[in-house]
Amino acid sequence: MIALRLHPDKQSAAQALARETADLIGLRSESGKPTVLGLATGSTPLPLYAELIRLHREERLSFRTVITFNLDEYEGLGPAHPQSYRRFMEEHLFRHLDIPSGNIRFPDGLAKDPAQECAAYEAAIRAAGGIDLQILGIGRTGHIGFNEPPSAVESRTRRVRLDEVTRRDNAVFFDEPTAVPHRALTMGVATILEARRVELLAFGAAKADIVARAVRETPSADCPATWLQRHPACTFHLDAASASKL
Ligand code: GLP
Repeated sequence: MIALRLHPDKQSAAQALARETADLIGLRSESGKPTVLGLATGSTPLPLYAELIRLHREERLSFRTVITFNLDEYEGLGPAHPQSYRRFMEEHLFRHLDIPSGNIRFPDGLAKDPAQECAAYEAAIRAAGGIDLQILGIGRTGHIGFNEPPSAVESRTRRVRLDEVTRRDNAVFFDEPTAVPHRALTMGVATILEARRVELLAFGAAKADIVARAVRETPSADCPATWLQRHPACTFHLDAASASKL
C-alpha cells in the first residue's frame, strides 16, 4: 500500500522530508551506525536538497556518517561531464555538505563492462547494509530511477535504453535534444523495493496522470512505479495539482 501525504506546496514537502531525514541520520549516528541514503536526480528533489543544505549550514546537521547511492547515471557521461548525474548531485548537494567523498556512490557511466559494474553496484549497496531511505521522483512514463516500461519487479541494477518521452523531458538539461544519451545504468525495481523506506516526490499538474496510475493500477511492468504498491513503507509526497487525478 502506498501512503499518500498531501503538502501545501513543494517547499513544505521538502521541509518535512528534510526534517525526517535529519532525524534518521541523528538517531542512527547516536547508536554509531551510518545512514544509507538512496538519492534521485531531476528537478523534483532540488528543494529537498536545498533544505538539507540549509539544515547543515544553520542547524549543524552533519553528513559525516552518511553513505549515498544514486539511482542512476547516463551511459557515456563521466563525473566531470556537465550533464552527468554525478556532476548534478555535486553541484546541488554534495559540495555543500561535509559528506566524505568516499561515501558517495554512483553507477559508472563510463564502465567498460556495464554488467560487471552493475553487479558491483548491487554488491556495494549490500555491503553498506542496504538503503535506509530511498528518495524517488517519477517520470511521465512511470519510470522510477531509469526503470522504463517494461521493467520487471525482479529487475536489478542494469544497463537500460531510455524511452523517447524521457529523452525529450530530460532534454531541458542539455544544450540540444540530440545530446541526451540513449542509454543509462540504473538500480532495478527489486533494488529499489529493498530499501527500508521509500519516499517519492511528485509535484505539479504534469505528474497528476502518472501519479494516479502508479497508485491505482494493478502492479505491472508497463508502469514500473506501480511496483511500489508492494513496498511495506512507501509514501508519495504530493501537492494538490499532482494529487488531482486520485
Ligand atoms: C529522470 C530521473 C528520474 C526522475 C525523473 C523525473 O529521468 N532518472 O530519477 O525521477 O527524471 O524528473 P523531474 O523530477 O525533473 O520531473
